[in-house]
Amino acid sequence: MGTISRRGFLAGAAGVLAWGSASWSTARGATMTAKLDVERFIEDLERANGESEPQAAVDAVLARTVSDPAAVLAGLGEPGVAGLHTIHHSPELTVLNVVWAPLMLLMPHNHEMWASIAIYTGREDNILWQRKGAVVEAIGARSLSEKEVFALPEDAIHSVTNPIRRLTGAIHVYGGDFFEVEGRSEWDPDTLSERALDLGAAQDRFRDASERFESSR
Ligand SMILES: [Fe+2]
Repeated sequence: MGTISRRGFLAGAAGVLAWGSASWSTARGATMTAKLDVERFIEDLERANGESEPQAAVDAVLARTVSDPAAVLAGLGEPGVAGLHTIHHSPELTVLNVVWAPLMLLMPHNHEMWASIAIYTGREDNILWQRKGAVVEAIGARSLSEKEVFALPEDAIHSVTNPIRRLTGAIHVYGGDFFEVEGRSEWDPDTLSERALDLGAAQDRFRDASERFESSR
């Protein structure tokens, strides 16, 4: 086991302040809620992304962060509008606040980079797929609840469902430029045949799902 550097120790100590426990009592007995420091969170993710095993290091930051869902809700706000909300975007790292509308589906797609998913409120069900000839076949599934982190390798293909009747809030981290990477695919939900990913259409699906949700309230 390696020794803990002073810098690492200080970062860890700062992390306690940033994430802390969900609440603590003051001298007067009132309860205060910890609040995620989003700027420091991004700094920690960028630092982790520079380590020798970037995704594992990022996953550790994510796990620590969503271990206190109340602090994340305080820092990011209650999920309000379904969509892919960008928190951070660079050639090396993209961090999205993904808000899923109730009962929303997103067809199979790939990322062409590693991706890690962390849930801070609600649920997200992932189906994992692999290529089989001209189509894809399902090879597994992972149901995610709050406080859980799910790591997808660079060649992963997944589809996502929000299986519950309320908004789900997740943090998705990608090891590259999510919006600029080329060669991404999606698979038609009807035929399971491959085509080039239309990111604009995917964002439209979030908007449509959000509008359906709003009109149903
Ligand atoms: Fe995805």
